[in-house]
Amino acid sequence: MLRKILITSALPYANGPIHLGHMVEYIQTDIWARFQRMQGHTCYYVCADDAHGTPIMLRARSEGITPESLIERVAAEHQQDFADFNIAFDNYHSTHSPENEALACQIYESLDKAGHIHQRTIKQMYDPEKEMFLPDRFIKGECPRCSAVDQYGDSCEACGATYSPTELKNAVSAISGAQPMEKDSLHYFFALGDFEDMLKDWTRGGHLQHEVSNKLGEWFEAGLRDWDISRDEPYFGFRIPGTENKYFYVWLDAPVGYMASFKNLCDKQGINFDEFWGSDSNAELYHFIGKDIIYFHALFWPSMLSGSGFRTPNAIFAHGFLTVDGQKMSKSRGTFIKARTYLDHLNPEYLRYYFAARMGAGVDDLDLNLEDFKDRVNSDLVGKVVNIASRCAGFIKKKFDGKLSEQCVEQTLYDYFVAAGDDIAGHYESREYGRAMREIMALADRANQYIDEKKPWVLSKEEGREQEVQDACSVGLNLFRVLVTYLKPVLPRLTEQSEAFLNVEPLQWDSISQPLTAHTINKFKPLMTRIDEEQIAAMLEDSKETISATEGNTMTSTTTDSGIDPIADEIQFDDFAKLDLRIARIVKAEHVEGADKLLQLTLDIGGETRNVFAGIKSAYSPEDLQGKLTVMVANLAPRKMRFGVSEGMVLAAGPGGKDLFVLHPDDGALPGMRVK
Ligand code: 2FM
Ligand code: ZN
Repeated sequence: MLRKILITSALPYANGPIHLGHMVEYIQTDIWARFQRMQGHTCYYVCADDAHGTPIMLRARSEGITPESLIERVAAEHQQDFADFNIAFDNYHSTHSPENEALACQIYESLDKAGHIHQRTIKQMYDPEKEMFLPDRFIKGECPRCSAVDQYGDSCEACGATYSPTELKNAVSAISGAQPMEKDSLHYFFALGDFEDMLKDWTRGGHLQHEVSNKLGEWFEAGLRDWDISRDEPYFGFRIPGTENKYFYVWLDAPVGYMASFKNLCDKQGINFDEFWGSDSNAELYHFIGKDIIYFHALFWPSMLSGSGFRTPNAIFAHGFLTVDGQKMSKSRGTFIKARTYLDHLNPEYLRYYFAARMGAGVDDLDLNLEDFKDRVNSDLVGKVVNIASRCAGFIKKKFDGKLSEQCVEQTLYDYFVAAGDDIAGHYESREYGRAMREIMALADRANQYIDEKKPWVLSKEEGREQEVQDACSVGLNLFRVLVTYLKPVLPRLTEQSEAFLNVEPLQWDSISQPLTAHTINKFKPLMTRIDEEQIAAMLEDSKETISATEGNTMTSTTTDSGIDPIADEIQFDDFAKLDLRIARIVKAEHVEGADKLLQLTLDIGGETRNVFAGIKSAYSPEDLQGKLTVMVANLAPRKMRFGVSEGMVLAAGPGGKDLFVLHPDDGALPGMRVK
């Protein structure tokens, strides 16, 4: 039976680049979408940029541009990254679109009419200088539990405590540095509790992975709290209907963006929107997401949909996070790899295959082990799959004018390959891609074994055995065609090249039931080359940030994606005068275990010593530094870092790497002397 399917991936925020962590999801979803299309089903895969919210507004402000032009630029970058990874969206839109505004308002108004929206006044932290309410992430201060400095308004990275921003000690606005104050504001809430019965049924109704339903059980026990869906201006988002100056919180209109992107596609292609979103829809709807946003998708979203007369999703498919070499992605180790940096060095199909080979249907994290990545791609794709074609193609082309045998002489073997298709399809359908890849590679081993047994390279040198050479190579190429069909959802580019080489129409799951006989193929061109270790090393090198202000207390210019950091908000002389810049003598400089960029400096500022972690290891070894003079910001609040507390900041100039200048030879200037 042919199905109608609509699939989405989570919408990436429009203020940052796509990285390999994102790519886990887009590759997972794209494979599923391509698989469904190969089965002949109607399958739309839509996505969009998630364009609203405070961080995007502030980022645009800091770049001195409008949010509209920021999101336009980022959307173009995102789409280019996706296209180059062969993510075949049917539509890519934006949450900052007329379709999304109309749908978000429609959903809100329906919920309001049905009594699910409440208003009440709450107290919130407010930045009196910037005249804006501060999201928790934009408030910093000392942890109320462990007193670690420089912690966000919602949780402490040092001790893991969670709290409300009002509990933070010595809180400051991360935007202006001003002391935030509490201020009243009228907010709009979505009464999630009204949907408790519906949600209990839905979340236990087979729409979620079992580990996700279990997690939801805990949330039900904790009680479903009202959800604050409004924000005050200034805010980049949609104004709430019936209000003067209240905006939808970004997470209200983000999932509506799925519908809006699809609506946009419907309008372009004449598809019936209601057939997919109406409450009596027979179409299937699936959302692929990361496990961090389950709450929004498994609780808020189904309630919003059902409360406003739309259908609910068939399933939410959550996945885990990406680690690189077993650890969280890290800018200093160079493992925070942007999609673009990867593409600058490596073929996207390597990663598509590697992720597929390691992916299951659960929410476990996925590790990109770079050594294993290289070995697996080289051995499976190049050494096994492509090898079959390259071992057979030359003989057919040269000796038989590109023509395959009149008959397949190994029908049983061929049928065995075809029969495996049901199992493999089952694995794709249940998102057990790792299992699918293992079965396909076992078949590839079998095909290579067959060629090894037949030894066409030996036969071809023996008189009167031409037919056997043609037969064996024709079987080999037919098996290759089956394998490529099975790999098509994962490797679209290799498939396209193989289709051209085999001289066949685009492969479908059921186009392989019969082998190709008496068929002429085209010239074989290498389909994929091996990964060279140096490509990986170069990618990691390119991913390292010159000096990360978050890793070391050395201030230099850090470059952004556009190359040059925008000039920050203008400051007044009074702000500048607050800096206490001092000459410091480097009494001691040492390596910091586990830190790629940092050196630990003991600085003498005249009768007082300071411990400072400085990200200058790329330019200096400790022995070069001892006894030299430098300039430091002496009145910077101490900062707790992973390696200890840093009590100041060393100033440096230069583009980074080896060219980083912090020093002055000791010419008698006095440590502790003010330089400003
Ligand atoms: O977590 C995120 O990156 C969000 N931008 C995902 C939104 S998914 C959907 F709800 F829009
Ligand atoms: Zn703490």
